Amino acid sequence: MKLTENQNLKTYNTFGMEVYARQFLQLETVEDVRAAICYYLRDKPFYILGGGSNTLFTKDFDGTIAHPTFNGISVMEKSDGKVLLRVAAGEPWDNLIQYCIKHQLYGIENLTAIPGLVGSAPVQNIGAYGMEVKDTVYKVEGVIISTGKAFELANAECRFGYRNSIFKQELKNDCIITYVWFQLSEKQQFTLTYQGLSKALQERELPLTLRNVSDCVRKIRDSKLPDPTIVGNGGSFFKNPVIPEEHYRDLLTDFPDLVAYDAPEGMKKLSAGQLIEKAGWKGKRMGNAGTWKNQALVLVNYGGATPNEVLDVAKAIIQDVETLFKLTLEMEINRI
Ligand code: EPU
Repeated sequence: MKLTENQNLKTYNTFGMEVYARQFLQLETVEDVRAAICYYLRDKPFYILGGGSNTLFTKDFDGTIAHPTFNGISVMEKSDGKVLLRVAAGEPWDNLIQYCIKHQLYGIENLTAIPGLVGSAPVQNIGAYGMEVKDTVYKVEGVIISTGKAFELANAECRFGYRNSIFKQELKNDCIITYVWFQLSEKQQFTLTYQGLSKALQERELPLTLRNVSDCVRKIRDSKLPDPTIVGNGGSFFKNPVIPEEHYRDLLTDFPDLVAYDAPEGMKKLSAGQLIEKAGWKGKRMGNAGTWKNQALVLVNYGGATPNEVLDVAKAIIQDVETLFKLTLEMEINRI
């Protein structure tokens, strides 16, 4: 375990916010998790930080940041064309994608190039291009901070939903995920329900392989989302809002081209990016913060932005979208 005092977090959050943490703990082994809980994480403010790609630090953090760096991918079982992998929380997510391509394991290729660590993936049930991580998570291992007890939660117990799970609800601020188990397939299978992906594959006239699908996803992402190593951002800043069908039909009167997808219980899911664009915010800048020119759902740090500049943009967007569409956007990003 490595402890530093007064740590600059600029390189530990993809928004590139220059804030400081009183203590910063690197959890280098899974044993460090228990030690950190016993000695550092009880009775004071703490935050478990993965890749920092879904976190907006709004000010200096007067407590302890614990950052898992222990990694490793192990095959636990192979049977009937299925493979169970146990992956340590500190493994970078895209390393797992590369591993799966190399070993021809199907099931998470559409989640190529999502920034962050494996331990964070189940927390917000990462999803993109027609796939969500919940569809391959077999179980999640971790430690409860308040009791120090190890836990294992099977997929159904994780209560996954759209950008949601038990780790964002009941277990919020009370657990450290140590390993995520994935059930992947050795048999070729693809999820090509996202139109942009199937179209791009057809246009490129390449054979349908894991490598080609993954490369295609990476290209689509690159065309829509800013590279956080160049332009600071935290991916989608808001969740896509889910509204009753009646509300959607009302909106169609003024906005006949408004895109919506079917959601559970007869609801409709709107695209927040489209709402923000229609509210005139796409590519707009206020001070050093603003939205991305190719995807209005992504708030960006154009360079040297303070947390308040980002939050001011977010608040202005929420207000304008509310006035226009009579709905309140909910922030997806963790604000600390
Ligand atoms: N759209 C606009 N204007 C915009 C952005 C989008 O009109 O500025 C429209 C698009 O034309 C399209 C629709 O909105 O018709 C959906 O856009 P897109 O496919 O880009 O997806 P999204 O709903 O905006 C979600 C995820 C992304 C994920 C993409 C691709 C959320 C909050 N975001 O975005 O996730 O990459 O789907 O599947 O669900 C992330 O979580 O950080 C993230 C990037």
